[in-house]
Amino acid sequence: MTTAPTAADLRARKGGARLVMLTAYDYPTALALDACGLDILLVGDSLGEVELGYDSTRAVSLEMMAHHVRAVRNGTTATHVCGDLTAGTYRTPEEAVGSARVLVEAGADSVKLEGGLVAQVSAIIADGIPVMGHVGLLPQTAAVYRREGTTPEEADRIAAEARALDEAGCFAVVIEAVPPALAERITAEVSCPTIGIAAGSECDGQVLVSTDLLGQLPNPPRFVAPKADVHGIVVAAGRAFADEVRGVTNAERKAV
Ligand code: KIV
Repeated sequence: MTTAPTAADLRARKGGARLVMLTAYDYPTALALDACGLDILLVGDSLGEVELGYDSTRAVSLEMMAHHVRAVRNGTTATHVCGDLTAGTYRTPEEAVGSARVLVEAGADSVKLEGGLVAQVSAIIADGIPVMGHVGLLPQTAAVYRREGTTPEEADRIAAEARALDEAGCFAVVIEAVPPALAERITAEVSCPTIGIAAGSECDGQVLVSTDLLGQLPNPPRFVAPKADVHGIVVAAGRAFADEVRGVTNAERKAV
């Protein structure tokens, strides 16, 4: 059995083979993705939108996240499992530590949080729990989803946040929805690996939402080229079953 990489293993990958991370929210998807040789399965709070049908990641509570971390843990042995701290559950360093412990007890190997919250990151790491940072577009607090870091001031602020997270000891930092040149700059400025989404190809790794990659929902975001049409497969299987059941009349069934 392959052993899952630790946060330290993943941090040491800077400059080496690119990191591959996908989101997972449930047992069967985790079981399948765990067989793909990925590095990290992120139980992202995108689950609120793509798995539970809410219009925001803010609808996800810590208890909901822990429930999904448990399911992913049950299907995963070879891949590092990172759980997202949910909106409003890491307002202070103390609260952040308590919330991170909940996800680790549910089976996460590490946690991720959004923004340059160095005090929270330091407190969680001091408690022995590895932390992944997240800069650029921050869905938990964004009023609208749009590209961030498009002015020099914004770009400098985001780069400074990434550097601070790196210095605080994050083992990796997600960079979401910034211009590729800014992602490349941050990647050069931090000592931990960067993992990009909608941020160009020059990060140390890439992450996608698995429902988008797998074509589980109609209308994936424009930057994703789905590698499967799971929505279509499910519709076809459901129709085939309905045809099969209805193709046998009750009279025929009784005659068998
Ligand atoms: O919640 C999530 O899926 C994420 C990724 C987009 C990085 O944070």
